Amino acid sequence: MTIERTLVLIKPDAVKRGLVGEILARYERKALRIVAMEQREVDASMADKHYHEHLDRDFYPALRSFVTSGPLVALVLEGDDAVSAVRLLNGATDGRRAEPGSIRGDWALSNRENLVHGSDSPEAAAREVGLWFPGLG
Ligand code: PPS
Repeated sequence: MTIERTLVLIKPDAVKRGLVGEILARYERKALRIVAMEQREVDASMADKHYHEHLDRDFYPALRSFVTSGPLVALVLEGDDAVSAVRLLNGATDGRRAEPGSIRGDWALSNRENLVHGSDSPEAAAREVGLWFPGLG
């Protein structure tokens, strides 16, 4: 058993659409434990830190504008293989191609407004948890 922590963002489109509760329920029903959770307004500097790998991508201005467009909910989930478990629950990045039954597959039709972010590796999770919740160490 490999107990991991991972960072999830429930993005501004999900908050605007009133899907926060439904999305949290999917993680909880999978037996992932909520270790920390906070609704935040994100500024451009925080967006740039979180998405530092993508700063030079052509889509980045649109992504930054989207994640700073309204409140989001940041949370840390813990459980066995939590990083990959969350990514399976989230579904493929592009909602148009995400598997039915996944969060994006059921509720998203875009690769920008795709409802959720999940850390893509244990190393990324450690960095992102430290960025969003410095107190967790
Ligand atoms: S890559 O190329 O595999 O590293 O990128 P990918 O994992 O597909 O996407 C990384 C994040 O960028 C977002 N994204 C976009 N945002 C806005 N516009 C466009 N066209 C776009 N394409 C990808 C995507 O939702 C990913 O966000 P996160 O929060 O990491 O899931």
